[in-house]
Amino acid sequence: MPLSKRLHTCLQFTRGFQKLADIGTDHAFLPIMAVKEGYVYSALAIDNKEGPYDIAKKNVEKTNLQDKIQVIYSEGIKDIDEDVDVITINGLGGRVIKDILLDGDLKNVKRLVLQPNNEASRIRGILHEIGFYILDELVFEENKRIYDLLVLERGVKEYTDLEIEYGPINLTLKPHFFLIRVEKEIVKYEKIMPLVTTKEQQREIDAKIAELRSVL
Ligand SMILES: C[S@@+](CC[C@H](N)C(=O)[O-])C[C@H]1O[C@@H](n2cnc3c(N)ncnc32)[C@H](O)[C@@H]1O
Repeated sequence: MPLSKRLHTCLQFTRGFQKLADIGTDHAFLPIMAVKEGYVYSALAIDNKEGPYDIAKKNVEKTNLQDKIQVIYSEGIKDIDEDVDVITINGLGGRVIKDILLDGDLKNVKRLVLQPNNEASRIRGILHEIGFYILDELVFEENKRIYDLLVLERGVKEYTDLEIEYGPINLTLKPHFFLIRVEKEIVKYEKIMPLVTTKEQQREIDAKIAELRSVL
């Protein structure tokens, strides 16, 4: 069962926990590897659609891990149990991940490993509400797409608006693909500029370009 570089990157942060819940598991590749490699003792593979649920169930049976991995047809984190201490949510939009985290009880979860396909800032914006802080942050590339990875643990930290938007660790370490993405955004806004018609829109785009340049 091949694990993409993206999922492999997420998997690394599950090491050493007891019970994983992988939300939006689809094929269940990540929980299967996490259990096989001994990163976690057991796992829940959760999906809210029939097709992915069936595929996850088949894959878990194929690997003969039914006693360690429970496949659940459910919505978000609603059906996780008290033993779950690490959650992964990968390959979904930032807004959907945010809604999943707000719409449930994180119980005894110690770590959240989140890989939004976009709008990571939506997740950073609810850290206070869910009582987690950013332990680590990565920006990496796979198949010419740039992804964020957020590793959160329980605790409270204060973040500025700029840190919520771009990520506090990204702003300090300025990783390569973070800078590439910011540069692309600047080019995108510079291309839009001649097309806007009102002064207000021009001011907004000017301000966004200035903000993007400030984080390079
Ligand atoms: C794009 S796939 C990502 C699969 C895998 N996590 C990965 O990163 O490769 C998204 C999966 O999340 C499931 N999903 C979307 N919203 C969900 C929710 N609220 N609760 C559970 N599963 C969800 C979809 O059915 C789909 O199988």
